[in-house]
Amino acid sequence: MLQVDYGSKPFQGHNTPFYYYDMDLLQRTLHSAAEASRRYGIKIHYAMKANSEQRILEAVATAGFGVDSVSGNEILEACRCGFDPSGIFFAGVGKTDSEIDIALSKGIGAFNCESVEELEIIAGRAAAHGLVAPVQIRVNPGVDAHTHKYVTTGLAENKFGVASVDFERAAAFVKGAPSLRFVGLQFHVGSQILDVEEVFRDECYRAAELVDFFEERGLRVSSIDMGGGLGVDYEDPDENPVPDFETWFRTIDRYLPRRIDQEVHVEPGRALVAQCGSLISRVVYVKKGVGRNFLILDGGMNNLIRPALYGAYHKIENLTAHYVREDEEKSCVYDVVGPICESADVFATGRQLRRSLRGDLVAIRSAGAYGSVMSSAYNMRGFAGAVFSDQTV
Ligand code: LLP
Repeated sequence: MLQVDYGSKPFQGHNTPFYYYDMDLLQRTLHSAAEASRRYGIKIHYAMKANSEQRILEAVATAGFGVDSVSGNEILEACRCGFDPSGIFFAGVGKTDSEIDIALSKGIGAFNCESVEELEIIAGRAAAHGLVAPVQIRVNPGVDAHTHKYVTTGLAENKFGVASVDFERAAAFVKGAPSLRFVGLQFHVGSQILDVEEVFRDECYRAAELVDFFEERGLRVSSIDMGGGLGVDYEDPDENPVPDFETWFRTIDRYLPRRIDQEVHVEPGRALVAQCGSLISRVVYVKKGVGRNFLILDGGMNNLIRPALYGAYHKIENLTAHYVREDEEKSCVYDVVGPICESADVFATGRQLRRSLRGDLVAIRSAGAYGSVMSSAYNMRGFAGAVFSDQTV
């Protein structure tokens, strides 16, 4: 059950829906990741696309991590929240000219380049400004992440990264471009990876081959960026609140050969922030349908789209029944839905929950990553605000 420190009446006085962040859990997660990264000499760049709340960015910056950004606005926000520009990577298949200029002017650590076409544009813009752009080439490793097709990125048919047919061309272009400084290679196979040892071992094998390929062509690979993807336990967030960074980094350390002068980087998003966030929503109606009961919430797919978009599972809890009524015994089976005029606006079907009444507060757990950032104003519903556990109410 979500732990809340508001006595017997949690979250009174807050407008629903809102995102609630357990800042203590965030700190424990950052600490665990930082410890493991120190043990194995691996540098962490937080994939801020997962959650760009200012308080969260500040906490991650204070932990000493860098950032994996995917837009000019993310770069500007990371700088504003205290990240050192030299620790910022800039990824994405569609970097615009103005975003490239922002990155150049801030002096970021590296552009993660996704095509030869993009390398050409970055080289041109850097030259025009009299600058040299640090670049990592994102290589499509062709490794199956065994995850949802919408979050698999490392297969040959995905739009991401330079495909193997273009490796020669990319290497030759970077070598011959005086306004580019080759830093290294970047990989990313997918997201919500649970077969940690197997998938990341395969990624390491493939990365080692590709490092050799580029070095044989006279490019010194001083940085190897293994991407993100470590999964979290959506089924049981209380049992596994902090993901297993140790196994991830140990696997990389074991299977990725590296010289003393080579840095290894990773870009976790979800693993750092998913478990600390919950979407708190109020029951508007308990509706008796044909052969089923609907729990209709005031939060919907506009606030958290993961169930509608990916069929993603999120644990759901009735906080009022637990904290206020202590309604332990009585439970019912509900379809938990939002108010949006779309059949896909469903958080869960046939879910056993404590008996729920109109006005109850419900927590949708593990929503700290790809929750708020993917929300929309569909149906002209407002955006959910943020409440932090260390704020006084
Ligand atoms: N690096 C790159 C190049 C990426 O594309 C991503 C995520 C990450 C790092 C961070 O991956 P993570 O550690 O968070 O798995 N909206 C989807 C997830 C999309 C992931 C996109 N790329 C979801 O809600 O599951």
